[in-house]
Amino acid sequence: MEISSNGKPIYFNLGFNPLLNLIEKNNYSQVFVLVDEHTSELCLPILRDGLGDFQNYSIIETQAGEQHKTIDFCIGIWNTLLDFNADRKSLLINLGGGVVTDMGGFIAATFKRGIDFVNIPTTLLSQVDASVGGKTGIDLDENKNMIGTFSIPEAVFIESEFLETLPKREILSGFAEIIKHGLIADDVLFDQILNSNLESIHPDLIIKSVTIKNKIVEHDPKEKGLRKILNFGHTIGHAIETYSLQNDPQPLNHGEAIVVGMLCEAYISTVVNKLTPEELNIIVDFLLKIYPKYSLEENAFDQILLTLAYDKKNENHQLMFSLLNRIGDCDFNINVSNELIIESLNFYQDLK
Ligand SMILES: NC(=O)c1ccc[n+]([C@@H]2O[C@H](COP(=O)([O-])OP(=O)(O)OC[C@H]3O[C@@H](n4cnc5c(N)ncnc54)[C@H](O)[C@@H]3O)[C@@H](O)[C@H]2O)c1
Ligand SMILES: [Zn+2]
Repeated sequence: MEISSNGKPIYFNLGFNPLLNLIEKNNYSQVFVLVDEHTSELCLPILRDGLGDFQNYSIIETQAGEQHKTIDFCIGIWNTLLDFNADRKSLLINLGGGVVTDMGGFIAATFKRGIDFVNIPTTLLSQVDASVGGKTGIDLDENKNMIGTFSIPEAVFIESEFLETLPKREILSGFAEIIKHGLIADDVLFDQILNSNLESIHPDLIIKSVTIKNKIVEHDPKEKGLRKILNFGHTIGHAIETYSLQNDPQPLNHGEAIVVGMLCEAYISTVVNKLTPEELNIIVDFLLKIYPKYSLEENAFDQILLTLAYDKKNENHQLMFSLLNRIGDCDFNINVSNELIIESLNFYQDLK
């Protein structure tokens, strides 16, 4: 299976022959593979096998984790590319989760004003979300994804085999984005999600999820309108993620925070948009069955509102929500009062 994204292919479970063809066709002067210490051990052997006789590439290893998605690590990698005499006809292959594909994409987009890159996402989250849509970037101190570009990889390779070594918690984090894609755009996919086996994510769920995101971002590449629906669950979700990072010894990961955000924003959707209480119940029952309930302390509310107000300051003083119209349809640019945000946090808090 193959789809086109901004004119470039996304391959699903087709192996790496198309990558060999791409390398041959473009006659790259050098090929580099960017990995982190986990994908070096767990994913590189799969790529190596897939490339058969072609083993003429250099490995660049970075450290795993969001805290390393910074300019300092980019400088290290740019310098390594220079040490290898990389020129503008080089190819960078990003083999890893969203940290590697985001940072590798940014490094490639800026090195000598831009070299080609390919993404091979190895986490569920990066397969269904980070690898599609052309956003690359790094963090600036506490501010996530502050510096970056819109740059399209020459190709994306989504291979289910990589997910076999991914810890369950990481699978669930990516699964939250698949759920989001169903909720905002496809009720049939959502039904399929309700009946899915979490022990082994069906490739069909991944393909449908990527196709939904791809359609949305092709329609609105620079997030002027429709692309905002991808933010469903993310307005409150990000504030909760920030709160958890600052306060919990074992913070929520992105997907877990987004699940709390989706529950709050689904509740808000029943108050100011057309989601029905029955639909809300279906969403609540399903999400609480698979994700642990997060305990929101009372004093968390103030901090969450402060984070939301800070985000608002950064977005023209307008904090706009994307809210469900029904399961499978979402509106954007809806203003929500602080009182209703607090009501939604209380709603979450009271869920059993
Ligand atoms: N560009 C976008 O549109 C976009 C969209 C969503 C998220 N993101 C970014 O993606 C990042 C999060 O991505 P992520 O969740 O993939 O995080 P990640 O890259 O940190 O990967 C999570 C962990 O899994 C490990 N790992 C990767 N592949 C593995 C495998 N096959 N088996 C075992 N372990 C493996 C990694 O080494 C890491 O420790 C964030 O920085 C976020 O900002 C970007
Ligand atoms: Zn997300």
